Formats: sequence, structure tokens, C-alpha cells
Amino acid sequence: MSAREQWSSRTAFVLAAVGATVGIGNIWRFPYLVGEYGGAAFILVYLGCLAVFGLPLMIAEVAIGRRSRLNPVHGFRYLATETSGSPAWLLAGLMGIVATLCILPLYSVVAGWTMAYLVRTASGILVGVTGDGARSIFNALISDPEKLFGWHTLFIVSLTLVAARGVRQGLERAVRVLVPGLFLILLSLLAYSWGGDALQRALDFMLAADFEAVTMAGMLAAMSQAFFTLSLGMGALMIYGSYLPGDASIIRSTASVVLIDTLMAIMAVLAVFPIVFSSGLSVAEGPGLVFQTLPVAFGRMGGGMILGSAFFLLLLFAAWSSGLSLMEPAVAWLVESGVLGRGWAAVVVGLIVWLLGIGVVMSFSAWSFEFTFADEVRTGGLFDVLDILSASILLPLGGLAVALFAGRTLSRKLMAEEIGGGEGLGFWVWYGLIKYVVPVGVVVILLRAVGGI
Ligand code: PHE
Repeated sequence: MSAREQWSSRTAFVLAAVGATVGIGNIWRFPYLVGEYGGAAFILVYLGCLAVFGLPLMIAEVAIGRRSRLNPVHGFRYLATETSGSPAWLLAGLMGIVATLCILPLYSVVAGWTMAYLVRTASGILVGVTGDGARSIFNALISDPEKLFGWHTLFIVSLTLVAARGVRQGLERAVRVLVPGLFLILLSLLAYSWGGDALQRALDFMLAADFEAVTMAGMLAAMSQAFFTLSLGMGALMIYGSYLPGDASIIRSTASVVLIDTLMAIMAVLAVFPIVFSSGLSVAEGPGLVFQTLPVAFGRMGGGMILGSAFFLLLLFAAWSSGLSLMEPAVAWLVESGVLGRGWAAVVVGLIVWLLGIGVVMSFSAWSFEFTFADEVRTGGLFDVLDILSASILLPLGGLAVALFAGRTLSRKLMAEEIGGGEGLGFWVWYGLIKYVVPVGVVVILLRAVGGI
């Protein structure tokens, strides 16, 4: 086998990891959660969760990846046997890969909605649309398998092409364009939104710090959002860490990633809220915010076509660079098992995800079915099944596995060596968090997700 590839620099890693972490979660989920749960108060709780759970877990994942220099399945097994742990730890890696294969089809279908909306805003179809109109347009789209099928195929083929070209020629080149692109689009949206007086209303809303709106449900939502937005618990950051050059500081790199991810989420809120407020609409409408409320706002404003197109392009870039990180663990696993070359590995993974995605495409039409999970009736067929399985079950379990592995199975000395900087105060804070605090937090998220609390 040829030598294993690495990122060309620490910056390349940070770009790729920012691409992985800044996703639909930042641009869609975070703004509606902030709207729903009380502005700045929610953000404060969220920042706390990032510091206490998110960053320590990300450090652990990246360190495990770099220490093993392998894909998650082989990586867990190799490090476990090296430190006389059980080889069954490879199941943790396998679980991560299953999680990526569950999330990717969802991501692909939502990216498909995004592409459809990009075309619609750019072509002016949505100019002057009413609230009811926007709702029925959205429902017509998600129950139209023919349209979704084409977008889904396009998204998966484009990811496969990049994954087939490897770490430097594929992933690194893509994120070098996508991530600065993301940042520039966000900046221009911000600049535009800040022109009007709606900015003041958005800031007033944000800064009202309505601590009463941060209920128990809000705190748990902040915690799982911290987890989801950092792409933790599925080996995506582990595989990216496994390509990190040996002399790069893990703490500095991961801290930059968390900082930029947070910045982009807050920028998204500051761009979206004024747009919504300036049309006299509400930001507290939940998941409908992006595909149902925003189109109405864009449809009412001058320049809405351009602004709307920029927004959906932003969402598409974010989904695309996250999609790349979701392909990589499975592709690297197949390659490092010695079964397939990179090109074929990418094709096989792409094909599996594409097939699963067909089920998701049909979830709101022919193949929709109803079931109850955690006392909630869900009607979205395979879409909801994969969503629950990944975000509510596999991701927290994966996070728990990483915390237990880094904090208990691997020795403290080994982790200190890999993270660097010796066993100073910072290391002990990290160690205490990963050993005691993170596992408890993750179990709470898990129990909450399955309706246990
Ligand atoms: N972090 C991504 C987001 O915020 C979601 C994601 C999770 C992407 C896991 C890849 C892996 O949307």
C-alpha cells in the first residue's frame, strides 16, 4: 500500500474540520433553537456546553485519530490491543461508520431541498409568496420523489468524486474553496441585513436574555446541539485527526475549530433574524424557519432574489463540506482493510448512501409510515428512523465510547503524550472533564433522547 496521506498543514486540517462542523446545524438548526429558547440566554448555556462537553470530546477524538493513524474501526482496535484493552472496541468505530451512513442520506436529501430552493429563489418564483403559499410549496417539494431524486443523485455523485481523489487532491482542495466561500457569503449576508433598522430588533431579541425561556428542554437542546454541531461521536473528526501532521498542536487546532464553528453559528443568527424581523415575521417558528419563513421574507424584500440565492448557496456549501467528512470514515475503512482502492471504495460508499437516500426521498410520499418514538408520533418514514437512530442514539453512544476510551481505557500518559504540553493544569482539567463530566452529560442526552427523562 502507498504511504498514508496527511493534510499539508495544520491550517488545512482546521479548514477541513471547520467544513465538517459548520453544517446544516449552524445555518438552520441553531437559529431556530435560539428563536425558540430565548436568545442570549440560550446562547450562554450553549457556550457552556461547548466548553464543558464539546471541546474536551473533540480533543479526545482528534488525539485518538492521530495516535492510531488509522480509520475509526482499525484505530480503536489497534489502540485497544496496544494497551491491553479488548479488541471489541472496534465496535465503537463500526458504530460511528453506521452513524455516518445514516446521516449522509438525510444530509443529501436536505441538500436537495436546498438546491431546489436555490433555483427557486434565483429564478424569482418565490417573489411575493405568502406564508400559506410557502408552506404548500415546501410540502409539495418534499412529497415529490422525482424532483428530489435528481438532486439527491447529484449531491452524492459530487461527494463521491471528491472522496475518490483522496485527502490532498480531493478533500483539501475542496475545503480550500468551500470554507472561505462560506465565510464570505455569511459576511455579505450580514452586511446586507445590517443595513436596515431590523438589526436593532434582532439584537434586542437576542440580548433580552430571557432566562425563563431556557427550560429544561432548552438546556438539553443546547447540549445536543453542542454535540451535533461539532460532528462528534461518529469518527468524522477521528479520521480527520488521523491525517493531522504530527507536530501540529491538537489543543490549538481544535480550539480554533470550535471557535470558528461558534462564530459562524452566531453570524448565521445575526444574518437570519433581521431578515425575518424586517418582514414582520416571527423567529420562533421552529424547524420551518429556513424553508417556510425565510422564503416569505425574501419574497417581500427588495433584492430578495439575490439575498435568498446567497443564503441557500451558503446552506448548500455547508452541507457539502460536512457531507465530505461523512463519507471519509467509511471510505478510509474500506481502503485500509485492503479490500478496495480509494476510487472503488468511494463508489461503493456512494452507492450505499445513494440507495438509502432513495428510501429517504420517498419518506414523505409513497413510503411514508407512522411510528411512535419517545412518546412522539413520527410520520416521516425512513427519514425519521435514520434521524432518530443517528442523532438521538448513535451519536451520543459514540461520544460516550470516545470519552470512556480516552479517559479510562487508554492510559493518562499516552493521552498526555499525544495531546502535548505535558500533564499541566490544562491537561488535568481536560482529563477530569473527559473522565467524569462528559460521560454523565452524554448519558443525560441519551436518556432524554429515548424519552427516559
Ligand atoms: N456538524 C454538522 C452540522 O452542524 C452536522 C454533522 C454531524 C456533520 C456529524 C457531520 C457529522 O450540521
